[in-house]
Amino acid sequence: MAHAYQKITETARLIAARYPSAIEVGIITGSGLGGLAEAVEERVSIPYQEIPNFPVSTVEGHPGQLILGRLAGKAVFLMQGRAHYYEGYSLEEATFPLRVMRAMGAGVLMVTNAAGGLNPRFRPGDLMLITDHINLLGMAGETPLRGLNDERLGPRFPPMLGAYDSKLIKLAQEVGKRLGIILRQGVYIMLAGPTFESPAEVRMLRRWGGDAVGMSTVGEVIVARHGGMRVLGISLISNLAMAENHTAAPDTHQDVLAAAEKAVPKLIRLIKGVLERI
Ligand code: HPA
Repeated sequence: MAHAYQKITETARLIAARYPSAIEVGIITGSGLGGLAEAVEERVSIPYQEIPNFPVSTVEGHPGQLILGRLAGKAVFLMQGRAHYYEGYSLEEATFPLRVMRAMGAGVLMVTNAAGGLNPRFRPGDLMLITDHINLLGMAGETPLRGLNDERLGPRFPPMLGAYDSKLIKLAQEVGKRLGIILRQGVYIMLAGPTFESPAEVRMLRRWGGDAVGMSTVGEVIVARHGGMRVLGISLISNLAMAENHTAAPDTHQDVLAAAEKAVPKLIRLIKGVLERI
């Protein structure tokens, strides 16, 4: 872990050499949502391959660049694409960039993802503010915090009560109302993927209290909370998770990307509106 701390400070120093301002907000864009990066002003882009220790995503719809610049007046560290557990990274490796954004000053994380809707009232294209999560991988033993704890990074036993900041949720709801963007709220369940859920799994996840299901985000939120960041999580409901063996064609990654791209303008307006008022 001392080794990890050194890697974090080294990587933060290298990035700061390209973008010397202190960072205020970290943003992660999920599948198909990378269009948000184009709204960043005075931007410096660095491909993940050029950043030591950064995990590189191999998934279509995840361009894999770090964007530094200003969005709605705030200095942002925007990750255009993320690495996932199913790509072969441990959660600790996949969440390394969170440690770096924190080391560069970010006090707030805005994390987005494309997710399958479990709540029968949801429709593709809806935005859902995450109010809580169910950490299926964590319950099964995989967490980014496994191993010796480095107190410089955070406490051994971080609480998950209030992980999704109620003030930020309230602020996002106010901004949504003002902009005419309907925002759902709900519980996000993370599982490892890359398979989409079977019908029996969808029924189980619904009964467990999930509103949306996806393959990212929870590890990132855990690391952000461990480091003391406040978190706003937003899921774009890109498809409805399927509970029946119906005859319609199953969802594909292309469907997920298409729905995400359509929702990008709405998401950009919401995120900018929230940033203005943080
Ligand atoms: N399931 C899991 N992950 C997802 C889905 C889904 O239906 N849609 C987008 N990410």
